[in-house]
Amino acid sequence: MLSETKEKAELTAQIIAEQKNTVILTGAGMSTESGVPDFRSESGWWRKIDPLTIATAEAVEENYTLFHEFYSNRLSALSDCRPHEGHYCLERWEKTGLVKLVATQNVDGFHQEAGLVNVEELHGSIQRFRCHNCGVEAAKEKFMKKSACASCGGKLRPNVVLFGEMLPETAWKRSMELVEKAELVLVVGTSLQVYPVNQLPALTRGKTAIINRDETFAETDFDLAMKGSAKEVLLYMDNYLKNAGF
Ligand code: OAD
Repeated sequence: MLSETKEKAELTAQIIAEQKNTVILTGAGMSTESGVPDFRSESGWWRKIDPLTIATAEAVEENYTLFHEFYSNRLSALSDCRPHEGHYCLERWEKTGLVKLVATQNVDGFHQEAGLVNVEELHGSIQRFRCHNCGVEAAKEKFMKKSACASCGGKLRPNVVLFGEMLPETAWKRSMELVEKAELVLVVGTSLQVYPVNQLPALTRGKTAIINRDETFAETDFDLAMKGSAKEVLLYMDNYLKNAGF
């Protein structure tokens, strides 16, 4: 790890420990070390596929074969992946009263799988399913088998936010509220390209920090910008916090 990253990770951990009021905002870079590809870096999904062809309401309606293939392949790949040590650090920080909320753009459910309780899924979940037409919930097996909705015969889809769709209202409002009141917003593994989530860090009255492997071009907007792997930097901070008695 870069020595500059270590120094900033210690400063960030100090704020986490002193203020006990941190909100974490995660993106796909939080899960790449679990084996889940992100979207915009070199090996990301959107470098191979144009999201507008598969991740929109129009794709569900007019291009369902491709839509279904993309999401069922992602689900199959996800079943071999698990949260990594970085996810468990955040769970420990929540348990020790340091972290108030993890707001995530990730749909994989890894924060909850790691035991976190206060999680808001701003882009929904790929682990829950509903009818695109009538909204009735459906089982994963039905989606995987490409069955039609049992209620209305409509097309089944994962409960993710597609491009052009609204964010889940409660998740968005609660994230905004807790971000505003936080003493620190720690952003982990997101390119901050997607609106409106990329507006969240600026809403806080507290400090802001970011951990990202590559440049996001938003570094100058943060009080502390750390270049590095999410898992490595979170583990480094966790070690600092443990040594400080947390
Ligand atoms: P992106 O793929 O846009 O950005 C992920 C960021 O994480 C990149 O800047 C990577 O450099 C960084 N990264 C990758 N691995 C990392 C690691 N191990 N440690 C630290 N950083 C790492 O993903 P998001 O910003 O999450 O939306 O994308 C936002 C939304 O765009 C997604 O939720 C998805 C997508 O379209 C929907 O599907 C609605």
